[in-house]
Amino acid sequence: MSVSALNGMRLFFGKGKCSICHNGPVFTDSQFHNIGVKQHGPLKEDLGRFNVTKEGFEKGAFKTPGLRHITRSGPYMHDGSEETLEEVIEFYDCGGDVAENRSPFITPLGLTGQEKKDLVEFMKALEGEPIVISLPEFPPLHE
Ligand code: HEC
Repeated sequence: MSVSALNGMRLFFGKGKCSICHNGPVFTDSQFHNIGVKQHGPLKEDLGRFNVTKEGFEKGAFKTPGLRHITRSGPYMHDGSEETLEEVIEFYDCGGDVAENRSPFITPLGLTGQEKKDLVEFMKALEGEPIVISLPEFPPLHE
């Protein structure tokens, strides 16, 4: 990885606090969090996980997406409200857009311009060639 991507990795696991939720082999804890996304698009609001569980604390909570090949799947967030990874980092640097019911892990980060670029470079480094899995030849079950 480039020096910038390596710095981004340190930020991802440190100052940026991203790995609290984006962790493990595919960078997700498979849990639901409200990170303070301001709803865009035709829906006035999308209560996310609450629609299923009816638990008040899950209003606006969405499942943490994995980040492998993340450069290929924009626009980002459940409503596509962030066009680019740069915009996603700006969103997190501000501590999210909506305060109501937001996770205590989402707070303003105070990132420098270089640190923002480094985080984006790290996410770009989560790209790779798809793994080709070749299956062994099995003998026929019956002659
Ligand atoms: C409190 C848990 C939490 C933390 C901390 C967190 N994220 Fe997320 N992240 C989420 C959730 C949940 C979503 C999906 C939100 C939605 O769809 O509305 C998300 C969405 C994203 C997306 C968009 C993915 C997509 O496919 O749309 C990116 C990129 C991302 N996060 C990167 C980061 C980075 C970089 C950091 C650190 C600066 C970070 N996240 C910190 C939980 C978290």
